[in-house]
This record gives sequence, C-alpha cells and structure tokens, in this order.
Amino acid sequence: MQADPNPTVVRINLGARSYPIAIGSDFAALAAGAAGLPAGTAALIVTNDTVAPLYNQTLVDRLVAHYSHVHTVTLPDGEEHKTWQTLNLIFDALLTHGCDRKVVLYALGGGVIGDMTGFAAACYMRGVDFVQVPTTLLAQVDSSVGGKTGINHPLGKNMVGAFHQPRLVICDLSTLDTLPARELAAGMAEVIKYGPIADMELLAWLEANMDALLAREAQALAHAVKRSCEIKASVVGADEREAGLRAILNFGHTFGHAIEAGMGYGVWLHGEGVAAGMVMAAELSRRLGLVDAAFVQRLRTLIERAGLPTRGPVLDARDNAGRYLGLMRVDKKAEAGEIRFVLIDGPGRAVLRAAPDALVREVIDACCAA
Ligand code: NAD
Ligand code: GLY
Repeated sequence: MQADPNPTVVRINLGARSYPIAIGSDFAALAAGAAGLPAGTAALIVTNDTVAPLYNQTLVDRLVAHYSHVHTVTLPDGEEHKTWQTLNLIFDALLTHGCDRKVVLYALGGGVIGDMTGFAAACYMRGVDFVQVPTTLLAQVDSSVGGKTGINHPLGKNMVGAFHQPRLVICDLSTLDTLPARELAAGMAEVIKYGPIADMELLAWLEANMDALLAREAQALAHAVKRSCEIKASVVGADEREAGLRAILNFGHTFGHAIEAGMGYGVWLHGEGVAAGMVMAAELSRRLGLVDAAFVQRLRTLIERAGLPTRGPVLDARDNAGRYLGLMRVDKKAEAGEIRFVLIDGPGRAVLRAAPDALVREVIDACCAA
C-alpha cells in the first residue's frame, strides 16, 4: 500500500472525552497529524506474539522520542486468551516496570488486544490513558472506536468490562497488507453491518466495491474504514453508554455471540459469527414483517461475496434452537431473561425489540447448517 501524504481525521465528539481517529498509512504521520500523542511518564505497548514481530519495533521507534521509557508486553494470540489470566499479564508488566498513573498504554493489534488493553487502562490505578493502534480491519472499523473494553467469561462473550475511551486512535491502513484473508473477511462483516442499520448508500457502495476491498485496494479500504468510523462516531457520540441507540451496532451480534461462545472462543471468528448472525437477524426481521425477502437475499449475497458464512453452525444436535436460546439469554441486551434483538425495521433503519421464542426457534432451524 502506498504511503498516504494526507491522512484523514474523523472526530468522535464526547465532550471532555472527545478524540481523533487518524486514518492513513504511516504511524508517525498519523500521530503527528492528529493533535499529537498523549503526554506521559512512560508508554507500555500491549501486543501479541503474531503482531509484535511485524509492527512492534516500528511503533517503539515512533514512541521513544516522546516518552522517556517505552516498554512492551507481548500476550499470547487468540480470542481464547481474552481472559482474566491474560489480562493480569498487563498488570504484571505495569507493576514490574514501576509505571505510575501517568503511563500511557498502546494497544497494538486487533480487537482482542484493543479490548483487553482498554480494560487494563480502565482498571490500572483506577484509570490511565490509552491509545488504540488497530491492525485488523475489524478493529479499524469498529472495536478501536467507542470505548467498549473487556474480556470474555466462559459463560458469556464480553461479559466483564468497562467503558473507557481511548485518547487517540491511530489507524494505519498499511498494516492490513499482512492480515490473513480470513481475518480481512471477518472485518468485512462489521463494515457490512453499517449498511442495513444506518446507510443503504454504503451497502450499495460495498456491492460495487467488494472485489476491490478483498483485493486490498488502498482507496477502497480507506473509504470503507473512514465511512465506518464516521457512522460509529455519530452513534457513539449520541449514546456513549448504550442507553438505547448504540445497541443498533450489535446487529447480528446476539446470534453471533451465541455462536462464538457455543463453539468455543476462537473456533468461529467474531466477524464470522456476526455474518451468520446478521442473516439470522434479517430473517427474523422478515418473519416479523419488517423487511421483505428481497432485502434478506441482498444481504445474504453480499455476505457470501465477502467470503463469510451465511448459515450458523449446529451447536447441539438434540436441541439446537434451545442451545442458541440459552446462550442468547446471557446477552448484555437481555432484560429480565428476555432476549432483545437488533432487527432491521426497513432498509437502513434498526430497532431493538423482543421476539417470541417460537419464531426465533423457526429462524434458527431455517438458518443453521444441516
Ligand atoms: P483479533 O484481535 O483476534 O485479531 C485477529 C488475528 O489477526 C489475530 O491472530 C491477530 O494476532 C492477527 N493480526 C492482527 N493484526 C494483524 C496484522 N496486521 N497482520 C497479521 N495478523 C494480524 O480479532 P479481531 O477480529 O481484530 O477482533 C475481534 C475481537 O474484537 C473480539 O474479541 C470482539 O469481541 C471484539 N470487538 C470489540 C468491539 C468493541 O466495540 N470493543 C467491537 C467489535 C469486536
Ligand atoms: N461494537 C458495538 C459497539 O461498539 O457498541
């Protein structure tokens, strides 16, 4: 990917917690162009054993001019390590290096690293600054923006966490060059999601540009990341703590989280679960009379073109729908045990509502692999 001399900045407006998302293709230019790095006594880069050999030294080289001490902690890679035990390795590093409350954490990696680093920053000495440096498409279009942080519990996905906004997001598109194709596709699920919930023009643009995106054409990726960040910034700016509107960003996630937890974390990628989950949620919307069959088919076709699954896995051969329902009751959107789904209420518009168990069972039976 060519270096971009004109990085784009999308702002997320949250009063005193506002921050820039700098999008381009050079860590250094991005940081300089986006109002600079936060001040601090030291920086701790949190990364993993896949990303560290690729990008850690480049980031260290950029940070040494700014902080008197730059440390790195390298975590084991994988969704199955998004746990208390791994989180504790970040606290071990902070305390071993004698970091005070002016330390700045840098999350260098995908959504797993971003969510864990943000949670560690929310907790360490009751809260320190952190910067997101997302290196997967999924993290660049979604997880690095908005301040949701946390870890998984064996009984439920992302069930332990905190809202803690980063001070800056440095989105270097050139890091996507090394991303495996399966991970690029998984990130595309979160890009596609923004179409049905908020922007049908984006959906049409994705239909026209999916081949260019999968071929990693720089301009196409830059547009997809920028537009996704704009939509996410506007939703989070209106409802930071998910009192209502922000839940629409979870389109496909109720079914998707059940798939991730039910299969065992890391077996299905987050974006793969969301992809099949969006088809299930769209089909539930259709059966409730909110969208027509043509809309569901349009979404299914685009998801397929992105190389993503459109059918959920069978989680239990004896009572598959019952297993899904049990897992979905542990969703954060559930109230008093009632599952609430993000549904499409006409193209480009989402709504949060409950649905009868019998109808949800029908959808699961119709949408899971035989
Ligand atoms: P991930 O963090 O596991 O990264 C995917 C894989 O790509 C990993 O193996 C990683 O090491 C590797 N990788 C990362 N960057 C690379 C690069 N540039 N080159 C080569 N390999 C690279 O997965 P993800 O899809 O980025 O994130 C998924 C996580 O994000 C889930 O835990 C999900 O719950 C979370 N999430 C959070 C939010 C939020 O708002 N906080 C939103 C969406 C998803
Ligand atoms: N990814 C969902 C949210 O940030 O709210």
